[in-house]
Amino acid sequence: MTAKTTPLRELPADLDRERLPRHVAAIMDGNGRWAKSRGLPRIMGHQRGVDALKNLLRCCDDWGVKALTAYAFSTENWGRPLEEVDFLMTLFERVLRQQLQEMMAENVRIRFVGNLKTLPASLQAEIDRSMEMTAENSGIEFTVATNYGGRQEILEACRSIATQVRDGKLQPEDIDEALFKRHLYTANIGDPDLLIRTSGEMRISNFLLWQVAYAELYVTETLWPDFDRAEFHRALSAYQKRDRRFGKV
Ligand code: FPP
Repeated sequence: MTAKTTPLRELPADLDRERLPRHVAAIMDGNGRWAKSRGLPRIMGHQRGVDALKNLLRCCDDWGVKALTAYAFSTENWGRPLEEVDFLMTLFERVLRQQLQEMMAENVRIRFVGNLKTLPASLQAEIDRSMEMTAENSGIEFTVATNYGGRQEILEACRSIATQVRDGKLQPEDIDEALFKRHLYTANIGDPDLLIRTSGEMRISNFLLWQVAYAELYVTETLWPDFDRAEFHRALSAYQKRDRRFGKV
């Protein structure tokens, strides 16, 4: 089979399977601008954003990336117009309900990270159901950051560690990176190797502050709903050209 007829499902021939990021994280930005540029309501951008996310998840699975984490809703996003927040909450719930069987069939393990306790009760129920049902799945690890804030996550970890010290269960000198990590929402999830941000903004926006310490950053002008396999291919090519030194020479 020639390179030209290589099915989309296969890793593009110019990418090195041995040097793929294990874990990709995505700040899915630009849904509103995508919709506005087409004269559509912002919510249509979010709707199309879900399709882009589903396609990226499938692409990661097809190409051998083991984990994908997506920033769906930040602790700051509550400041958006009420109708948009309501739409997003309903969208998350509907997508979860509709996609669960497919995720089971594709062996996806889904997790949610963030302050989940303040989300609408019906969404929490759907989140719990999806996490429980997929807990034993051994395929791609898909994490959705919802009502997530990196600073809040670090503060919660500090509070939990401080409580253990106060109760005499832990000594201050026991606190190291490995222990700290166990108190984060992402305790059981590896750190991202590659962080993609769409729509050209050069910011981390309170996303995985601790975890992205050594992630490679890739920013594209492309708006999230247009982020497709070709775009992901470009991001992976850029990643494979990087020299990851982790502070060493
Ligand atoms: C940022 O674009 C996007 C969001 C705040 C929402 C992202 C959510 C999804 C794509 C849905 C994911 C669904 C599930 C079930 C995980 P923006 O609105 O800030 O765009 P703008 O900067 O152009 O206004």
